[in-house]
Amino acid sequence: MLVSAAEMLKKAKAGHYAVGQFNINNLEWTKAILLTAQECNSPVILGVSEGAGKYMGGYKTVVGMVKGMIECLNITVPVAIHLDHGSYDHCYKCLEAGFSSIMFDGSHYPIEENVAKTTELVAKAHAMGVSIEAEVGSIGGEEDGVVGMGECADPAECKKIADLGVDFLAAGIGNIHGKYPANWAGLSFETLDAIQQLTGELPLVLHGGTGIPAEMIKKAISLGVAKINVNTECQLAFAAATREYIEAGKDQQGKGYDPRKLLAPGFEAIKATVKEKMELFGSVGQA
Ligand code: 13P
Repeated sequence: MLVSAAEMLKKAKAGHYAVGQFNINNLEWTKAILLTAQECNSPVILGVSEGAGKYMGGYKTVVGMVKGMIECLNITVPVAIHLDHGSYDHCYKCLEAGFSSIMFDGSHYPIEENVAKTTELVAKAHAMGVSIEAEVGSIGGEEDGVVGMGECADPAECKKIADLGVDFLAAGIGNIHGKYPANWAGLSFETLDAIQQLTGELPLVLHGGTGIPAEMIKKAISLGVAKINVNTECQLAFAAATREYIEAGKDQQGKGYDPRKLLAPGFEAIKATVKEKMELFGSVGQA
């Protein structure tokens, strides 16, 4: 069932668990995540970065694929298709293409401009029944070639953006995309706590879910995080399983070169990763 992410995240925040946003890259990713969500009876958010949207043949292709799978695979759990780190222009493209949720990443604009653009997009998205995420404080690491330094958001700025009516808010708390460096200082729970005290009921979003230790994830959920984004971890799991298959020479045995066989171990590895995260986040059985 394709829905906006607003209700599922309100429920998650009230129920003290988090819904996973798993980024998709192709058909195998999408199918693996949707089937796992159904098996776990968990709500799920499919994240689509601008780069991945282009790679998959455009936003309309993505919407068509996801809608088709929901119908043909009998996916009854709540599913949102969400633009991840969207620019102003791409938010409009995704609204037009039928996404059920968007993220406007205005974190690199001066706060006044972030406010103006977010206000406009909140009105547009809500008029279409689409949920919207905003970001304050840039999240470090590299995503689609854009490198940001891990920052801690200013809680007062978070409150300002929260009051614009966004459905959920991503705030930098020392988290970064991709693998964490060995000398990473960890999440700033002080910042998270201060943000939650000012933003109250609003579901908070933790980007860069890959590699954050389980205890930190649980603590973040206890302090108001209701959506956790995971991308790199599925990519690493997929790559490792595919490497193992090739290195074992399985692509050269029988019809092992058939993509349906060659990509099967990677597909199963994504399923296992998503299941593990859903269990950790507490969203199993919450659909
Ligand atoms: P990771 O790639 O570190 O899991 O981060 C994903 C993310 O935050 C997408 O917005």
